[in-house]
Amino acid sequence: MNQASETERLNSPTDRLGLRFILFGVFCLFVGTLQGFLQSTPRIRHWVHMTGQAGHLVDPLAHAHINLIGGVVSVVMAMVYYLLPRLSGRQIWSQMLGELSFVFMVSGVLAFYSVLLTFGILEGNRMLDQGIVYPLARAVYQPYHKIGFVLAALLMGIGHWTFVFNVFATVWSRDPKKGLETMTRPAKERV
Ligand code: HEM
Ligand code: HEM
Repeated sequence: MNQASETERLNSPTDRLGLRFILFGVFCLFVGTLQGFLQSTPRIRHWVHMTGQAGHLVDPLAHAHINLIGGVVSVVMAMVYYLLPRLSGRQIWSQMLGELSFVFMVSGVLAFYSVLLTFGILEGNRMLDQGIVYPLARAVYQPYHKIGFVLAALLMGIGHWTFVFNVFATVWSRDPKKGLETMTRPAKERV
């Protein structure tokens, strides 16, 4: 294999998708650890303890999911996109589905994080300001809280399930065009 085709194989669309997952994952780890640091400060720890279930949305739920899904799962997905074609000897089943999965992961993680943080803070502050219990504070923001939460969870779910489907389809697909041979050929020779 000459140097040009080797470079091209290393920069295949699947590799570039993996790179985008890594960048998104590292960004989420930055945001998540920044929140981790902030929520370790005595003032915010106190706020979290005083606001019960509302505080729970912020710490640990928002913090755990931005770090674990946004950070760890995204980097795991990047590793799968890099390794799977090389280990299975096949191109990824659908590049388009991979791109779609990325869009759902990014929008889902960011939406889930924003919804948890926004309603957690609004409801927690309302509990403290008005001396009310969580269900009353939460009721003020319905149906927006419920709709935002379910929609964001669904976006993340679709992001994960399209990824899972693509991985299994790559390994089990019988399409002969998906072999490694097409992946390693220079673009001008591909049909
Ligand atoms: C600068 C880095 C970090 C700091 C300062 C930090 C700080 C914290 C704090 C203060 C809590 C709340 C503990 C409690 O309420 O008892 C927490 C919970 C949590 N953190 Fe972090 N964190 C950091 C990074 C991470 C990372 C990178 C991950 C995952 C990859 C992570 C995952 C979690 C999880 C899952 C919980 C919930 C644990 C539970 O509820 O038992 N954190 N973190
Ligand atoms: C579509 C994807 C997901 C959704 C919608 C989701 C949603 C939730 C919800 C609603 C809870 C709430 C629990 C409560 O009532 O306190 C939870 C807890 C948790 N989830 Fe997820 N989750 C997802 C995927 C994941 C993944 C992939 C991981 C890890 C890699 C994860 C890690 C956790 C952890 C550690 C907790 C416990 C946090 C704590 O209270 O300490 N989740 N999740």
